[in-house]
Amino acid sequence: MEGTLVNLPAVVELKRKYKFYLYVDEAHSIGAMGPNGRGVIDYFRIDPREVDILMGTFTKSFGASGGYIAGSKALISRLRLRTHAGPYAESMSPSVLTQIIASMSSIMGVTDDVSQTLTFPSLAPSSAVPQWILEQLPPALRDGSEGKERLQRLAFNARYLSRALYRLGFITFGHADSAIIPLLLFHPGKMGVFSRLMLERKTPIVVVVVGYPATPLITSRVRFCLSAAHTKEDVDILLRAIDEVGDALDLKHGTIKNRWTIDEVCARAVELVNLEEEDDA
Ligand SMILES: Cc1ncc(COP(=O)(O)O)c(C=O)c1O
Repeated sequence: MEGTLVNLPAVVELKRKYKFYLYVDEAHSIGAMGPNGRGVIDYFRIDPREVDILMGTFTKSFGASGGYIAGSKALISRLRLRTHAGPYAESMSPSVLTQIIASMSSIMGVTDDVSQTLTFPSLAPSSAVPQWILEQLPPALRDGSEGKERLQRLAFNARYLSRALYRLGFITFGHADSAIIPLLLFHPGKMGVFSRLMLERKTPIVVVVVGYPATPLITSRVRFCLSAAHTKEDVDILLRAIDEVGDALDLKHGTIKNRWTIDEVCARAVELVNLEEEDDA
């Protein structure tokens, strides 16, 4: 809801000092964040062994169902024996497993060279992927190059939209590298109008507005979720729409001194994503 990112390095420091267990849920970050798509630990270059219980879902980036829990052998053995999911849940269907293995392969990249599977970020050993899936994986998915490109596109889109909104004078929440970008509408009465005005445009845009009780009463917002499938042109269309609707609804309350016009934003996108927010705040 907020597009925030945990300060994992600080939490790991605290863990070293106070010896607590650390449980990290990468549901929204696995396959989406970090240079290798391995989530928040990858984004902050943290050794996965620092995290006692590392979990995620296969329902988001993987487009499948189910999830995973990674931890010590003792922990995993106990979960297998003692949780309801072990003895009672249905096993996953072959088509779902195929989807998970194929998307995991494209995120990680697959190799026949065992030495490349031992260091972080390791590639997946080809022996771990069923031969018939390997044979059907297009080369760009198999070697991870398409996965890498998608991660880069998502990272660009996320940074572009949040930086651009900031430059235009809007107020957003969250981390600059989060693909979830909440734009503050503040007044609950603006939620319905914003949504309708976006929908009525020449290129209709369906947006998700969120308000009380999911948010505090005065921080109603519209929540944008970017994907790697969005192109720069898609984000430009979105920005032009937000810019116009934002003027009509008086949404530009940011304190930035050097605002850019929408044409400048679209033309200088690459420069914009490389600018730090503080540059002329
Ligand atoms: C933080 C977090 N963890 C886990 C999940 C579980 O996802 P699912 O039930 O789709 O596997 C979600 C779902 O949105 C989530 O937001």
